[in-house]
Amino acid sequence: MTTPVTVTVTGAAGQIGYALLFRIASGQLLGPDTPVRLRLLEIPQGVKAAEGTAMELDDCAFPLLRSIDISDDARVGFEGTNVALLVGARPRSKGMERGDLLEANGGIFKPQGEAINAVAADDVRVLVVGNPANTNALIASAHAPDVPDERFTAMTRLDHNRALSQLAARTGAGVTDIQGLTIWGNHSATQYPDVSHTTVAGRPATDLVDEAWLTDEFIPTVAKRGAAIIEARGASSAASAANAAIDHVRDWVLGTPEGSWTSAAIPSDGSYGVPEGVISSFPVVSRGGAWEVVQGLEVNDFSRARIDASVAELVEERDAVKGLGLV
Ligand code: NAI
Repeated sequence: MTTPVTVTVTGAAGQIGYALLFRIASGQLLGPDTPVRLRLLEIPQGVKAAEGTAMELDDCAFPLLRSIDISDDARVGFEGTNVALLVGARPRSKGMERGDLLEANGGIFKPQGEAINAVAADDVRVLVVGNPANTNALIASAHAPDVPDERFTAMTRLDHNRALSQLAARTGAGVTDIQGLTIWGNHSATQYPDVSHTTVAGRPATDLVDEAWLTDEFIPTVAKRGAAIIEARGASSAASAANAAIDHVRDWVLGTPEGSWTSAAIPSDGSYGVPEGVISSFPVVSRGGAWEVVQGLEVNDFSRARIDASVAELVEERDAVKGLGLV
C-alpha cells in the first residue's frame, strides 16, 4: 500500500459530487493500491447534505477510504490536497449576463486559487469542472502564483467521450477501436470535435463518414449534448461528468495508454496558434504525471476556422476577467 492521497472535491453535495465521491473512494480514480483521504468543500448551506453523503460513504466500508473531512472554509478544504476537483460553481441564472456570470465565479475561484496556493500539497493537480470551466481554471491559476500553471486544467473529457460514443455508434465500431480524436478550444458550444486525424479500427474516420454528417450532425450533437441531456433528464449531466473527471485525473496521474491521445484543457504553450496561457482543449498525452500537447498534426482550413472561433471565445473570456481584475 502506498501513502494516502488527499483528494478535495468542491461542490461535494451537488449532483456531480454525489456521482463522483463513491468512485473516488472505491479506488477508481487512483487505482486499487492507493488509499484516499477525502476533503469535501461546500458552502455553508451545502454542509449538511455533504455530511449525509459522508455517512453513506462510511456505510460503503470502502477499504481504501482513510478519512473524510467536511468544511465550508477553503483553507481547510484544500489543506494538504494532492488532487483538487473544483466542481462547485455559480450557474447562470435567468437573465444573467456573461460578465455577471464571470464575476460571480471569480468570487469562487479567486479565493479557492489563493487557498490552494497557501495550503495544498506541493504536487497539487487541479481539475476544474464547474463552468465556465476553462476561464474558472484561469482565474484560480492566476491566484496561485506558487503552483506551476500547468497544474491547473479544465475538463473537456466529457466532450471527448461524447464524441467517441457518437462516432462509434455511427460507424458500428467499439469506442476502443477509435484513436486520435480531439476536442479543441472551450468547453462550450464553440468547441470543435475534430476527427481529421481519427482512425476507426485502423481506417481514417473521414473515409467512413461523410462530410455532411460531420458538420450537420456530429459536431452540433457533441457540442450541444449538455443541453440535450438537460432537456431529456430535467437536470444537467452528472454521472457522465463525474466519469469524465475520473478519466481525466486517472490519465493525468497514471499516464495515457500508448498509441493514442485524449483531450484536456491545459494552459497553452502557444502550440497550434493558441495564445500562450489561455486554457484551451488540445490533443494531449500524459507522461510522468504531466500533460503534453501532441505536436505535428496538420490542421486543415476547416479545422483552423473552428479552432480559431473557439479560441477567440476563450480570449474574450480572458479579457473580460482581466477587465474585472480577476486575472
Ligand atoms: P449542483 O448545483 O448539483 O451542485 C453544485 C454544488 O456546488 C452545490 O452543492 C453548491 O452548494 C456547491 N457550491 C457552490 N459554490 C460553492 C463554493 N464556492 N464552494 C464549494 N461548493 C460550492 O451542480 P452540478 O450538477 O454538480 O454541476 C457542478 C458544475 O459542473 C456546474 O458548474 C456545471 O455547469 C458543471 N459541469 C461541467 C461539465 C464539464 O464538462 N466541464 C459537465 C457538467 C456540468
